[in-house]
Amino acid sequence: MAPGSRTPSSKPSASGSTLVAPTDALDANGTVPTVLDPHVLNAVTVQAATEDTYAKRIYASWPQFGKPAVDAAISSYFRTQISTFTANLPKPGGKSAPEPELNLDWHVVAAAPDMVSIVADEYAFSGGSGTSTWHSFWLDPTTDQLFSTGALANPDATNTALAAAAKARAAKVSGLNLGQVGSDPLGAAPMVAFSPAGELIVGYDECQIAACYEGRVTLTVDKATTDSLLTDVGRRAQAATMHPMGGTPSASSKPSAPQTPSSPSSPSTSPTKPTPPPGGKVDCHKLKCVAITFDDGPGPYTMSLLNTLKAKQTKATFFMLGQQVSLYPKVAASVAAGGHEIGVHTWDHRSLSTLSVPKIDQELNSTKQIIAKETGRTPTLLRPPYGAMNGTVKVEAKKADLAIILWNVDTLDWKTRSTPKTVTAALKDSRRGSIILLHDIHKTSVAAVGSIIDGLRAKGYTLVTVSQMIPNAKPGVKYFSGPTK
Ligand code: NI
Repeated sequence: MAPGSRTPSSKPSASGSTLVAPTDALDANGTVPTVLDPHVLNAVTVQAATEDTYAKRIYASWPQFGKPAVDAAISSYFRTQISTFTANLPKPGGKSAPEPELNLDWHVVAAAPDMVSIVADEYAFSGGSGTSTWHSFWLDPTTDQLFSTGALANPDATNTALAAAAKARAAKVSGLNLGQVGSDPLGAAPMVAFSPAGELIVGYDECQIAACYEGRVTLTVDKATTDSLLTDVGRRAQAATMHPMGGTPSASSKPSAPQTPSSPSSPSTSPTKPTPPPGGKVDCHKLKCVAITFDDGPGPYTMSLLNTLKAKQTKATFFMLGQQVSLYPKVAASVAAGGHEIGVHTWDHRSLSTLSVPKIDQELNSTKQIIAKETGRTPTLLRPPYGAMNGTVKVEAKKADLAIILWNVDTLDWKTRSTPKTVTAALKDSRRGSIILLHDIHKTSVAAVGSIIDGLRAKGYTLVTVSQMIPNAKPGVKYFSGPTK
């Protein structure tokens, strides 16, 4: 889906050490690896697959390294998870049935030029309770090689050490029994990683080795024992964790620490005043205004989109994912520098209507923070993923000073992946005051933008940002359009 594209920049910025990821991806009962700022990785193209219908809410993104074997293995894993989820969906049920959701993303936990580890993190909800699933990848991007967990450490010695670690924690973890995963607990572990101190961390999903209510459980092998059981590959993996590119892992703060969920009104967000994007005042009661909006970025095609917008002298609005901003901080800064408006699309594209209040606050405030940090502007707009919202989401959006901006022209660009169809949909359905939904993570959508702008102008529309069209948007209030007359 993203052949040949590359990230514009990968050097950790000086401020890159203060990643504010809200993720609970690696939360577990036990020690967890430290999540690194993803832009330490060079030349990573992130693929994103999204689907958004009443029947399924799917968001998936995964990294690609420009190496055929490694890329195929990673893509295959993620695509299999998507198709398994889709195949097992319950038939659309009654009105009160909550929407199924699949959220698949990834985190970097080790980064050396010749040794990288990512942990895929999946949340799947299809009725009943949701399930979370990890999957570790260890790879050498220079040789296009993927390593099994058995290649990192001597399996027999590691399994003996894991049995001892489990025994030591038995009193603290209900129902802990490594035997539940068979005779090779190392091989059965979905996550194998290291702590910044070099201890081996072996992680299990819910219900795998302990009572389900314990959640995910990790076992830690002390440094001396770890050193005794690592292979050469394992030692490289350990070193890539203890001394990653772009700084020590502890330098990336505590990404799994919640963003002060106890003070949801977000005084923690940068004190910068919300600044309206440049572009000046436009009276959309006099002019026929339309706002073009882009969700899910920034991504590999966003710079090209900025060139088109510049050439057409058009300002647009970008609803960004915090996770993508952390991966493409310079692109986010370029969007702001180009005079475009930036709003919040949550950190990792979770459906907000199913989250607890502290998690909603984390999603909103962490994304506000990273956008403010990387662009110098504090966002005032929220677009909830899938448009999913309820009264709680409104209340929390209000506390976070975010107006809720939906849309009334859905180009379905994510679905058709067709430039002509995207152009046609945008032009056919636009009216005065329309907010048009597009996604800048798809090449086909970005390619459609020039023709969309030309077509709208030919019909007499003035293209504006959302805040130009709705200058007094109120926090916590939802808007589907600007002035329609
Ligand atoms: Ni989205």
